[in-house]
Amino acid sequence: MQSTRKTVGLIEKYRQHLPVTAATPVVTLGEGNTPLVQAANIPKLLGYPSLQLHFKLEGLNPTGSFKDRGMTLAISKAVEDGAKAVICASTGNTSASAAAFATKAGLKCYVLLPHGYVALGKLAQAIHYGAIVVPILGNFDRALDLVRELAEQTPVTVVNSINPYRLEGQKTAAFEVVEHLDRAPDYLCIPVGNAGNICAYWRGFKLYKELGMASSAPRMHGFEAEGSAAIVQGKPIKNPETIGTAIRIGNPASWKEAERARDESGGQIDSVTDDEILKAYKMLGTAEGIFCEPSSAASLAGLIKHLENGTIPQNTTVVCVLTGNGLKDPDTAQKITTVDLTPVDAEIAALKKVMGL
Ligand code: F0G
Repeated sequence: MQSTRKTVGLIEKYRQHLPVTAATPVVTLGEGNTPLVQAANIPKLLGYPSLQLHFKLEGLNPTGSFKDRGMTLAISKAVEDGAKAVICASTGNTSASAAAFATKAGLKCYVLLPHGYVALGKLAQAIHYGAIVVPILGNFDRALDLVRELAEQTPVTVVNSINPYRLEGQKTAAFEVVEHLDRAPDYLCIPVGNAGNICAYWRGFKLYKELGMASSAPRMHGFEAEGSAAIVQGKPIKNPETIGTAIRIGNPASWKEAERARDESGGQIDSVTDDEILKAYKMLGTAEGIFCEPSSAASLAGLIKHLENGTIPQNTTVVCVLTGNGLKDPDTAQKITTVDLTPVDAEIAALKKVMGL
């Protein structure tokens, strides 16, 4: 059977809302159009059966995270501007995405990573896509400082979210949420690391409201990890720590714009503990069949906290953004499991015994 449908990326789909022209070479891997999946069990499990809860599965983007939305635009514009090389600091996902899109475009890609704090799958991706991978003896914040300095001294284009095209591309996720729900949700819950994505969603929701595509915009509820909660504490954290290595960031680049998004939307930025993150992470797997990475589960952890203390009402529509794919970080999944994986004799009787059949 012949199909007339072809995969289009974000730039083709949302061209009129993005800073591109007919002359912009489009570098795409088919990003965007990710599922918005309604929770089947978690609202009841939590005791809030009237909660309309949806998950935006950003881990289904081509490199397994939301970063691809910004990267298609950042790399396309870099090519348009004649760049030969790009660079980023990363806790892992940005580097994977930058490496993939740069390779597709024929650009060189340098990535600076905090040594020892990048999930194995993300590191494997950056290497596999052919980036020049440099682990540094320092954290993400230091890596980003170094990237800024290198970009001043050498002809490399920065593709971190301080590159203005990144957040413009990422705002398309908000368009999709409105299109899938046929309205804006009442609340959007989202993990906060470098604080770019919360700003991008807010830009998208605001624009769709201005254009009459939605009659309202959601309250933006962002969640930092407690050990890295610079915005919540109102000061940079020198040595950020959290199990969610993707959001292990102590001095978010988009701090001020994130506070504006919070305030304009009537939302909040709060923190969640590693225990709360892991509880939500496990619950997504066992109750919904969703495997996201630990940092992503900060959105659900934060929602649970705010439902419990009444800052989010239960009779409402909420979207939790699940920013990255759990397959990127199998180590954490294995580390926290209590399942006994001792091998069993390959015999029916032995199986019946351990399976309780
Ligand atoms: N979730 C995941 C899976 C991430 O990788 C990141 C950021 C965030 C949430 C936070 O988003 O920074 O826009 O507030 N990862 C960056 C990286 C820092 O290098 O991959 P943010």
